Amino acid sequence: MSAFPEALRAVIGHLERARETGYTRGASQSALVRLRETPEVTPAPTPVSRADDPESKAQRLARLHAIASACTKCPHLAASRKTVVFGVGNPEAEIMFVGEAPGAEEDAQGEPFVGRAGQLLTKIIQTMGYRREDVYIANILKCRPDTPGQTAGNRPPTPEEMGTCFPYLTEQVGIIQPRVIVGLGATAAKGLLGQTRPLGELRGAWHDFRGIPLMVTYHPAYLLRNQALSEKRKAWEDMLQVKERLGHAISERDRGYFLSKSSA
Ligand code: URA
Repeated sequence: MSAFPEALRAVIGHLERARETGYTRGASQSALVRLRETPEVTPAPTPVSRADDPESKAQRLARLHAIASACTKCPHLAASRKTVVFGVGNPEAEIMFVGEAPGAEEDAQGEPFVGRAGQLLTKIIQTMGYRREDVYIANILKCRPDTPGQTAGNRPPTPEEMGTCFPYLTEQVGIIQPRVIVGLGATAAKGLLGQTRPLGELRGAWHDFRGIPLMVTYHPAYLLRNQALSEKRKAWEDMLQVKERLGHAISERDRGYFLSKSSA
């Protein structure tokens, strides 16, 4: 196997980190996006699904799940993980939520968003009028980012890890074909849009992920850390836009959430 893709990913990671620390002369944002999209870095996903495939979406997802569960493309993550946290939910979902990466509880249980942030995400989903099992939930990275030498805590995925795992997510999206994707937090925004613009600038507006409308909003963990009503309201307004886009009725009660303390 050629060492070129790995070397290219390392260079891209280096240039992205340089941009994040304010050095913008290495490569422009659009050049980085183009580099990330080269077939060497983001290969076309394994063709486990085709539009005319007679298998059901559930069968195709199960097949991809089995492939991902045996993945060792990031040897350090394969060595430290308990499970590959593939994704969960309705293969026919109209909404797909995409987070960052599994934490300790998700790694232990093999299911995304089951910890504190997950409980808040479930509450948001229910307040939107769905059951958790109606939607599909996945992460940019399917393995828990390792934290060598630490017994607790999380770290964000590296650009290399994100690029390596990305084909699994694109394949999941291709199988499910949700009507809307919701990206949760800055890592999801970066993974889905190839952008490092602040989330505050990206949220609240529609983007596109391979032809599917994409809304990015605050990560539930951020909403747990920052209890300001104004931030909850912004995240809720993003979800109202999602409901509207999907043609679902929005009640006066829906519209009023988080506008005053009594509605929080
Ligand atoms: N945060 C995420 O982004 N994903 C999870 O699965 C859990 C917490």
